[in-house]
Amino acid sequence: MGESIKVKLVEMRGITKRFPGVLANDSVDFSVEPGEIHALLGENGSGKSTLMSILAGQYRPDGGVMLVKGKEISFRSPRDAIKSGIGMVHQHFKLVDNFTVTENIILGDDRTPFFCRLDSLSAKISRLGEEYGLTVDPGARIDQLSVGEKQRVEILKMLYRGSDLLVMDEPTAVLTPQESEELFANLKKFAAAGRSVVLITHKLNEVLSAADRVTVLRGGRTAAVLGREEITESKLARLMVGRDIDPVKNDSKDFAGETVLELQGVGAMKDVGRQGLRNITFSVKRGQIFGIAGVAGNGQKELAEAVTGLRWVHSGRIRINDKDITNLSPRVIADLGVSFVPEDRLGMGLVPGLGIVDNLILKRYRKAPVAGRYLIDYKKAGQEAERLVKEFDVKVADFRSPVSLLSGGNLQRLLLAREISENPSLIVVVYPVRGLDVGATEAVHSILLELRRKGTAILLVSEDLEEIIKLCDRVGVMYEGEIAGILPGGDIRPEEIGLLMMGSGISREGA
Ligand SMILES: Nc1ncnc2c1ncn2[C@@H]1O[C@H](COP(=O)(O)OP(=O)(O)O)[C@@H](O)[C@H]1O
Ligand SMILES: [Mg+2]
Repeated sequence: MGESIKVKLVEMRGITKRFPGVLANDSVDFSVEPGEIHALLGENGSGKSTLMSILAGQYRPDGGVMLVKGKEISFRSPRDAIKSGIGMVHQHFKLVDNFTVTENIILGDDRTPFFCRLDSLSAKISRLGEEYGLTVDPGARIDQLSVGEKQRVEILKMLYRGSDLLVMDEPTAVLTPQESEELFANLKKFAAAGRSVVLITHKLNEVLSAADRVTVLRGGRTAAVLGREEITESKLARLMVGRDIDPVKNDSKDFAGETVLELQGVGAMKDVGRQGLRNITFSVKRGQIFGIAGVAGNGQKELAEAVTGLRWVHSGRIRINDKDITNLSPRVIADLGVSFVPEDRLGMGLVPGLGIVDNLILKRYRKAPVAGRYLIDYKKAGQEAERLVKEFDVKVADFRSPVSLLSGGNLQRLLLAREISENPSLIVVVYPVRGLDVGATEAVHSILLELRRKGTAILLVSEDLEEIIKLCDRVGVMYEGEIAGILPGGDIRPEEIGLLMMGSGISREGA
């Protein structure tokens, strides 16, 4: 005796969870040691959030056993999980906007006395924040905080409740690179103090930089559990996708033909009455991918909207195939062969509450073969939808269930399927792989390159320099509503784009 057996903080054995038509978790084993950062890695839809929502008392499993510190438990609510020391920070924060930081943190906490002194609680929260590097003003109202600060409040809320285990669901999806780095530093402090972290992610580099161990999920099952020394990027990628990924790339054979899109001195306002676009001049040819790089918020959104007719242009001209389309309606512009894959897939691109068929015919219910004499021909529409879903490999359980239940990668494929099936001369694509995993990203990229080969002109707005360099034939960099420079594709160096993104540097090529 005398030797203590190391008890796992959390152990999940054979966890199974079904949703209508989907087996989200299929007998998954998962465990967390005290003091470790454990990454839970997997493609979109592989079951990560479901598994952790079960651990956090949000869902009840259909099968399996859970132990916390060696004792079998069963949670009926998140409150039960919190009492056992498990706190989860969700992808979408659960904070009350017009309450202060302190009020949000103590809200719903059993231990807060009915009559409490807010200022002493605020002091306690400040101390806790300092200890873990999570500085935030306890008196600030939530709606005054940045996304990164709101996330800190969520973490503090869990620390305040004494969580031994912090589950973070894709925490960096909403953060800037600097904020992400800070977050990881804080999580490491947390682990060094003996607590544990589960980091849900589909980004390989986050696993490499932060994790002590990693569990990889694929299709709802455990694909592997690896220790720090066994982790390599290619191994993780293969485990996640179930095959080797060979990255597609622009073979840089010149397909460019006649000019499709032409902008001359285009100016437009932002939503709030400030100048959004200034004197934008460039053109895109058939079979060319023209990238728009830049830090988000420098006019990219306004540019995409101006071209697709969604934003009023107050100066300059926009032409498609030599036809002046300046300030024509979005529908007329779409009918002239312009497709649009917007940034906000569910808000603007698709109708969340409608099913696959309805979403796919959304833009062509007025045209044959879908339009019947008086009504939509649903049989034809269904066949057409089936063809597209197959061709673009969209994974669907049921054609009628709302598209809001699809994963990010499948949503994007659905949207691309609809837009491409229109045979556009120009497609405007905004942040197409944001939030997508490796496999889905490659799929989207190969769809774009295939379109390029077929002669479509592509205007690709992206923040991701790797994506820009990999795909684009030419790159325009936006800064404060202007094109700061245009670079030829092929041999672009990231630093060159980086300088233009920050408003310095000169272009190598005229417009
Ligand atoms: N509340 C739900 N209702 C129905 N299906 C769901 C629900 N939550 C998740 N799913 C489905 O379960 C599977 C796993 O989803 P999820 O756990 O969110 O994956 P991940 O977090 O790895 O992206 C997906 O096919 C998803 O569509
Ligand atoms: Mg998830």
